[in-house]
Amino acid sequence: MISREVILPTLFQERRRGKIGDIAIASRRPDTILELRRIFAGEEFKGYPDPAKLAAGNSDPDAYKKALAELAEEGIVIVATPDHLHIPVVLDTIAAGHHMIVEKPLCLRTDEVHQIIEASRERGIYVLTDYHKRHDRAIRAVRFKYRRGELGEMLHGHAWIEEKREMPLKVFASWCERSSPFEYIGVHYVDAYYFITGLRPKRLVAFGQKKFLPKHGKDAFDAMQATIEWSDGSVLFVQTSWVCSEYNSALTNQGLQLSGTEGEYWADHKDRGLHFVTQEHGFEHYNPNFFKAYDSFDGEGQVEYVGYGYNSIVQGLDDIRAILEVTRGMSREGALSKRKEAIAELEALRALPSQALIGTAVIEGVRLSVQNGSKFVTFDDRMKPKLL
Ligand SMILES: NC(=O)c1ccc[n+]([C@@H]2O[C@H](COP(=O)([O-])OP(=O)(O)OC[C@H]3O[C@@H](n4cnc5c(N)ncnc54)[C@H](O)[C@@H]3O)[C@@H](O)[C@H]2O)c1
Repeated sequence: MISREVILPTLFQERRRGKIGDIAIASRRPDTILELRRIFAGEEFKGYPDPAKLAAGNSDPDAYKKALAELAEEGIVIVATPDHLHIPVVLDTIAAGHHMIVEKPLCLRTDEVHQIIEASRERGIYVLTDYHKRHDRAIRAVRFKYRRGELGEMLHGHAWIEEKREMPLKVFASWCERSSPFEYIGVHYVDAYYFITGLRPKRLVAFGQKKFLPKHGKDAFDAMQATIEWSDGSVLFVQTSWVCSEYNSALTNQGLQLSGTEGEYWADHKDRGLHFVTQEHGFEHYNPNFFKAYDSFDGEGQVEYVGYGYNSIVQGLDDIRAILEVTRGMSREGALSKRKEAIAELEALRALPSQALIGTAVIEGVRLSVQNGSKFVTFDDRMKPKLL
């Protein structure tokens, strides 16, 4: 879904702009490659597995390894497998020496994040997690004012993010039992609070409900909530679900309210003050900021994709291009040390693994709390959650 709707249109646009070269797509099934060729007719890309060599209906979960082996030296990898399947691809990509962008959450367990931190630091590899809400101006606005003291000290906040039931029932039918609405979408607002405030989670308690999905053959959570206390004693309540009505006015209900000692922030991130009513789709809230197609100023009939979904990926591509440029032509050792230096400078500014650790720590903590009858969970000095 994210590859089809955001990543590939972004890459094809970047290629039209002359910023990247060849594109290859690795999936498991040749059918996916054929489907993408149909959707993106006219766009050139190499497909793994090759539908000419592996017949439709078959699956090759290791096809990405062949793609990695054949990737050019300055090739960049974007990992968009289901959440629980990021880790093998990320570690293999580091071992192959390629920089990468990974869809959020980086992975599901803090010990996996530490594995990634260690391996990527040793090899001087850039690993950006695509937390695209960091690029939403509605989030950047509150970070800007909070960091300048206009909200004072944080007291508490409430984030909500809820999707339509088609997500676990259709789109992720094959992996919804391995995930949850907290891991899949709630983590966005955990990372947003960390991005805005720089605070770290101290303890949490979480809840989950299984009422609707079990009646539809899925042993998965309908909804999950967490109350998270942060290092300054402020509290964020995060409410998530993925069983909203099919008739909801957008795929995602979402928003954030924050109260500080000197001011408050209130934002509906679904209703951006713009809606359509059409015969085809009925009433729709329309978020013009995420990732939308617009008429290009460059030519009649051409389309330009704009938004924070786009900017987030392009930030990773631009960082990687800059790292490749400053190390080109250097000796192996010289390039390694220059890469390490360039990545260390970005550590405080980007969702590199040391920052992505926070989102993963909270989702691992939420799962631990829910599995233990909603007990409180705290974190050790490596952010590993443990029962209080
Ligand atoms: N940044 C965002 O806002 C955003 C939005 C949606 C999803 N996501 C994240 O993106 C990732 C993918 O989500 P999605 O919604 O596209 O899921 P999806 O199920 O639609 O797509 C995942 C794809 O990975 C493929 N895959 C599985 N194992 C593979 C392997 N070994 N090699 C190659 N391909 C493999 C599957 O066949 C499938 O095509 C998840 O981590 C999700 O949380 C991010």
